[in-house]
Formats: sequence, structure tokens, C-alpha cells
Amino acid sequence: MAEDVWRTVDDHFGRMLLGPDPVLDAALEANAIGGLPAIDVFPAQGKLLHLLARSIGAGRILEIGTLGGYSTIWLARALPPHGRLLTCEIDPRHAQVATSNLAMAGFAEIVEVRVGPALDTLSTLDPAVDGPFDLTFIDADKAANTEYFEHALRLSRPGSMIIVDNVVRNGRVVDAGSDEPSVLGTRRLAAAVAQEERVSATVIQTVGAKGYDGFLLALVH
Ligand code: SAH
Ligand code: DHB
Ligand code: MG
Repeated sequence: MAEDVWRTVDDHFGRMLLGPDPVLDAALEANAIGGLPAIDVFPAQGKLLHLLARSIGAGRILEIGTLGGYSTIWLARALPPHGRLLTCEIDPRHAQVATSNLAMAGFAEIVEVRVGPALDTLSTLDPAVDGPFDLTFIDADKAANTEYFEHALRLSRPGSMIIVDNVVRNGRVVDAGSDEPSVLGTRRLAAAVAQEERVSATVIQTVGAKGYDGFLLALVH
């Protein structure tokens, strides 16, 4: 019952405010044909990422967890002509579909998909050379969220924004008895962020066409 209403309301405002989007539809279709799991951000959330990136005038964006590049396209659309987006993906098949989707969306020159474990890629990044990144979107394996967040912070500047997806997962985050690596990873992340004096953060719970979840948003002081 609740899920039906969430979906209907998402569709209702989506039709009005997001409109038809052949580029994103084609990306999702290519993902499905390629056998990628449909775990992209939901459309209203993609647009929120886009609006946040625009509102802070982001010129450099870092993404951890590309999948087929659906969230990447939303973020890349926020960039100015000389903006840059670096996105990290461990699965070469996902990266291949994403690269094709990003080219179809017109972002071949602006976006770089770096294939490999994100921690390896992040370790090679120098804030003075590759960054600083104005916005980082963390959306990969949740067990490593704390390490991703630390790298994001290292590669940030005062005023940078860091967003972490899927921190609620149907409320499983508050199940103290859970031994799910993703739940433990997210609990560890929240504890680290709470102790981190360089950021101020909040978590927003979300419902919609993709169920009940939420994201963490942190602003670097
Ligand atoms: N941000 C995407 C969804 C990402 S799904 C969107 O909203 O459209 C999570 C992705 O993280 C998957 O493609 C998965 O292969 C990738 N991933 C998982 N572990 C990873 C790792 N250690 N390093 C880099 N990417 C990883
Ligand atoms: C999963 C991962 C995601 O990034 C997401 O948005 C939804 C689900 C998953 O691994 O199940
Ligand atoms: Mg996600």
C-alpha cells in the first residue's frame, strides 16, 4: 500500500517536473540490455544531485560507483563547459556500458570513467592536481564508505559537498544486531562523520519508486 503511493507520487511529480528525458531513458535501456542491476539513483534524486551541483557551482565532481552512468549523467549536466567529472567503477562491464551511455549523452570529453577498485584509484589522486572536488557522490560498496568518505574529504576544499547514497536501506541501518557488511559499513561511516570536525552533516530519509532509503549530505567547513 505505502509503496504504491510512493511510486504514484514519484511518477506524478516526475512527469511534471522532470519531464520526458530520452537520453536518460536510453541509458537505462542500455543498462537493462547489458544486464546491469537497476540500482541507479531514482529520477527525483538524480535531479536533486544535479540541482545541488549547480547550486554550489561545481566545476569538478568525483563519483564513486558508476554502474551505467545514470547518476553520472545527472551530475555531468550540472557542469560548466570546462567542468570535469571523474567516476570510479570496479566492474569493466559496467564501465563499458557507462562509457557508451556517457558518449551518447555528449559527455565523452568531460567525464572520465576510471576502472578498478575505487580505493586504488582514490589513492592515486592528488587534491592539488586532480582536485579539489567541489562535490563527491559516494555510491559503491557500502562496506568501504568510511574510507571513501576520508578520501573525499582529503580531496575537498572548504565549501565542498559530500553525498553518500543508501544509508537507510529500508531502516536496516538501525538494526543493531545486523551483520550485513553494508549495514555495518554505513553505521561505521555515520560514527566517523559524527566525530569529524571538518564537516557538518545530515541524513535525509527518502521514499519513492525505488522504495525506502536515504542519503547523507555533508558540507566541508
Ligand atoms: N551511481 C550509480 C549506481 C552505482 S551502483 C547510479 O546511481 O547510476 C554501485 C556500483 O559500484 C556498481 O556498478 C558496482 O560495480 C560498483 N562498485 C562496487 N564495489 C566497487 C569498488 N570497490 N570500487 C569501485 N566501484 C565499485
Ligand atoms: C544497491 C546499491 C545501490 O547503490 C543502490 O542505490 C541500491 C541498491 C545494492 O547493492 O543492492
Ligand atoms: Mg545507490
